[in-house]
Amino acid sequence: MNNIWSENVQGVMTLYLSRKLRFDDVFFERYRPLFDIDENAAIKILEIGCGPGALAEALRRWYPRARITAIDRDSNFISFASKNIPGVDFREGDAAKLPFGDGSFDVTISNTVQEHIEPAAFWGEQLRVLRPGGVCLCLSARKGLRCTAPCLETTAEERGFWESLPQDDTFERYGVGKFAMSEAALPASMEANGFSRVTTGYAIIDLTPDAPKYPAKMAEAMIEAERQNDLEVIRSVHADCAEKVIAAVNAKYDERLRLYREGVRQWDTSVSVTMVLRGIKK
Ligand SMILES: C[S@@+](CC[C@H](N)C(=O)[O-])C[C@H]1O[C@@H](n2cnc3c(N)ncnc32)[C@H](O)[C@@H]1O
Repeated sequence: MNNIWSENVQGVMTLYLSRKLRFDDVFFERYRPLFDIDENAAIKILEIGCGPGALAEALRRWYPRARITAIDRDSNFISFASKNIPGVDFREGDAAKLPFGDGSFDVTISNTVQEHIEPAAFWGEQLRVLRPGGVCLCLSARKGLRCTAPCLETTAEERGFWESLPQDDTFERYGVGKFAMSEAALPASMEANGFSRVTTGYAIIDLTPDAPKYPAKMAEAMIEAERQNDLEVIRSVHADCAEKVIAAVNAKYDERLRLYREGVRQWDTSVSVTMVLRGIKK
């Protein structure tokens, strides 16, 4: 349908690698009580705005008997997910006009999607495709914590690159975050749009590579996820002079990995706070 998101807002690897970490099995215990879904039931789950598919991939592991369908309107995301994630039916389509019949799912779920879609359409379409008694789960990113490693501080070269670019209006142009709501407004919106027994909860995920609780593979994946995020942001501005900055960014992350491997701590951290709303279709 289009590649607007993947080419201008967040790239495939930015979303896939960061979400793969946040939805790692070690964190399932945080989501399990908030989702409150029977892990042994042969239910039908629909993920809305699935991006490159990391949450759908986790759902497939966490709910092994479920049939999972996932939809996004970005063709690059669906193409990546279809090639790399088996066992999920990935489809291109619009969340505001879901290509599914009334009452066809037991659960709908989305992660960081609500704020981009007009609320009556976002909630209304999920209400329509859920069966009576079905569960809607809406995951919404809240303000977390970020602290950069000393060796990853923005260099003068990067600063010069960003300052040389025209004012960035990507978010306004594509309506990114246009319908964002507070922690109070969001559950109220869910109720006003027809869901009952609405509950809220928070999953806090700490990604600190130097924390000894994380094995090396996971710590290095955290560093790589940050690297790919930075690289895709640079590429997304489609500037001719990006190559030198890309080389500089790669050198910084190579250094970060070297320090990690030598046990020289940097204590950079990223703590995400995900609000989980749960509502029932009457
Ligand atoms: C912040 S990204 C989150 C992607 C994914 N849920 C994740 O966590 O990696 C928002 C996603 O919503 C999708 N999206 C936005 N509006 C949409 C719509 N009307 N229909 C389907 N997908 C939409 C975008 O293409 C993008 O993949």
